[in-house]
Amino acid sequence: MGFDLHGLMAERAGENFKLYSEKLNPQLVRVLRSIGFDRLYTRAEGAYLFDDKGAKYLDFLAGFGVFSIGRSHPVLKKALHDAIDADLPSLIQMDAALLPGLLAEALLARCQDNMGRVYFSNSGAESVEAALKFARYATKRPRVLYCDHAFHGLTYGPLSANGGAEFRKGFGPFLPGFAEVPFGDADALMRELSKGDVAAFIFEPIQGKGVNMAPAEYFARVQALCAQYGTLVVADEVQTGLGRTGRMWAHEHYGMRPDIITTSKALSGGYIPVGAMICSTEISDAVYSSMERALVHSSTFKNNQLAMVAGLATLSVIDDENLVEQARITGEAFLEALAPLVDRYEFFHSVRGKGLMIGLEFGEPKSFRLRSKFKMLEMAHKGLFSQLIVGPLFQRHGILTQVAGDEMNIVKLLPPLICTQAEVDYFVAALDDVLNDAHRNSSLIFEFGKTLVKASLQRS
Ligand SMILES: Cc1ncc(COP(=O)(O)O)c(C=O)c1O
Repeated sequence: MGFDLHGLMAERAGENFKLYSEKLNPQLVRVLRSIGFDRLYTRAEGAYLFDDKGAKYLDFLAGFGVFSIGRSHPVLKKALHDAIDADLPSLIQMDAALLPGLLAEALLARCQDNMGRVYFSNSGAESVEAALKFARYATKRPRVLYCDHAFHGLTYGPLSANGGAEFRKGFGPFLPGFAEVPFGDADALMRELSKGDVAAFIFEPIQGKGVNMAPAEYFARVQALCAQYGTLVVADEVQTGLGRTGRMWAHEHYGMRPDIITTSKALSGGYIPVGAMICSTEISDAVYSSMERALVHSSTFKNNQLAMVAGLATLSVIDDENLVEQARITGEAFLEALAPLVDRYEFFHSVRGKGLMIGLEFGEPKSFRLRSKFKMLEMAHKGLFSQLIVGPLFQRHGILTQVAGDEMNIVKLLPPLICTQAEVDYFVAALDDVLNDAHRNSSLIFEFGKTLVKASLQRS
């Protein structure tokens, strides 16, 4: 019998959690079960997921920001079918194919004129690896500065620039020459830059872990200080890029002109992994400086034809459906619709973000009655309250969201950029309902908290 995908999936349906537990990662399955996220999804379209019982879920996680154009987009599907049917010769290696050139051209057309070259990778982390290597090589300097709370991926280069202890613990030692500076503190940055040995300052224009933002003046000083001390500005736009924040690149909000940009996530359209490191011609020429060095930074699957097709089709959809502007408009409407809930509920401290990258910050309520419950939860596990929001949003309202990081009471929303006012309204009504319950001190919500604490104790 030959390979039959549909037959295989039908035959083994229902074994997913068992197999995942046995063969991949049992702890993830335990997490999913303890928070009640253990669904069997069978189909996905646009902003929605569907499970084996026919239930529908509004996906405001979008694969960590991958599905900006929505899932199963017909243009992307057709492009990939066309590419496969054309029997395109991929990964010849000793070749310079057309599609990488076209995707590089399309990306560069969306950047400022100081950008001239692209290196394609297979993930966000790999794009960051390339940026770090190119920056060190081009400047002949050893050090890299990164921000507290930063997230740039989990391979050793990006992990050495990770500003969260939870990811680093036990994996050291890290690459030498990496130092952390507080996000938003230009004076601290200056103290490090003035040593004159810093190759790159890498930052996220809006930090993914916590949806942390800094004022425009900070970014203006970053740009000026890096220019003064000869340090390259590396904008990690793996999450914020390609329209997520209502501009093509989030650094545009702050009038920045980075030397290197990293991108990935949305570029893949969710089908074929792809990432890119975009830089000036000078930086690229410094690394690829002779024929001997033509492959000095490379990877077997870079430039793979299906990834290039996915990138080209995705960029075309972003343009044709005006998704960057759409994200800006929907994002503004979203923040506006959420603001009254901040006034209404003591737990709900603030809403922040740009475009469709939104953070909901929860914190200690004022009234004694609610404060004691909140403190009890926080003592059991810091950041637990936000899980009590994410849980019922999913269970009761079928909305998939995530907490924005370990030990923080921030829920992050990354809806697909195609989401409409109807979906914003649905979410706001659902959040209102969940917060209303928490506010009324509903045992339902706090019982769920106790279940989670128990589960996490068993996990550790
Ligand atoms: C800003 C940023 N950089 C890099 C990465 C790493 O990307 P990947 O998970 O594709 O390696 C991420 C992933 O979330 C990210 O948000």
